[in-house]
Amino acid sequence: MCETNQKSSKKTPRVATGDRAILPEGAKTIPVYIMGKKYEVPETLTIMKAMEFAGFKFLRGAGCRGGICGACPTVYRMAGDYKLHFGLACQTVVEADMYLAQIPFFPANRANYSIEEIGGLPEAIHALYPELFRCVACNQCTKACPMDVDVLGYISALKQGNIEKAARLSFDCIQCGLCASRCMGEIPQYHAAQLARRVYGRYILPHAEHLKTRVKAIEDGRYRTMLSELSTMSKEELEKRYVEREREPDFAERGSWQPKESRYL
Ligand code: FES
Repeated sequence: MCETNQKSSKKTPRVATGDRAILPEGAKTIPVYIMGKKYEVPETLTIMKAMEFAGFKFLRGAGCRGGICGACPTVYRMAGDYKLHFGLACQTVVEADMYLAQIPFFPANRANYSIEEIGGLPEAIHALYPELFRCVACNQCTKACPMDVDVLGYISALKQGNIEKAARLSFDCIQCGLCASRCMGEIPQYHAAQLARRVYGRYILPHAEHLKTRVKAIEDGRYRTMLSELSTMSKEELEKRYVEREREPDFAERGSWQPKESRYL
């Protein structure tokens, strides 16, 4: 949630402080309604910045500000439009006569499990999230998703036991929880999808052998000397080392190039 931190009686000039908006000379403003109250905000701002411009401060419900973390789900209506709209406050640009509300967190239970113990069968997911079968395929979850994830598609895949399909369909999920806020079956879709991706990664996706070899080399301390050498270098030395590093030619044939320095390969 957010709260106002601006004292209306105090006239202080707006100062640019990173994410804070300053109203440029002659900028056009538009009316928006935040928690039911009307504010004039510059038309170029995202919902998040417009709310900050209006004097609200995000204590919760803001993270990356880049559309990745899912902390800032927003619900809004436009004046005269029956439809409910959904978006991320840090990504959606304000429009005149938006009626805005933040849903920084929506309660949705997450199952307790150890990925090493549950095994890779769909029944494990069904046992942890039996509410999956309460889905009535209304598709409100998909309509609410600000990332255009086919939520109903992955829920259906999970019910059918297709973990790979569920993992792939849900890959762009940023865990904002808007799907769960709309679900009449009260399913925590995004938690079930996260479990599907974990099970897929742990039990179904083939494991890269060369990755295992490299992890073992790291664990055995193969790079310790190099790292301690690097950590004692000055910034200038590090930059020089970086600029002069050996680089694979852009169009080298696969497998045909080897660096001269091969101690750490
Ligand atoms: S703040 Fe991270 S997605 Fe909006």
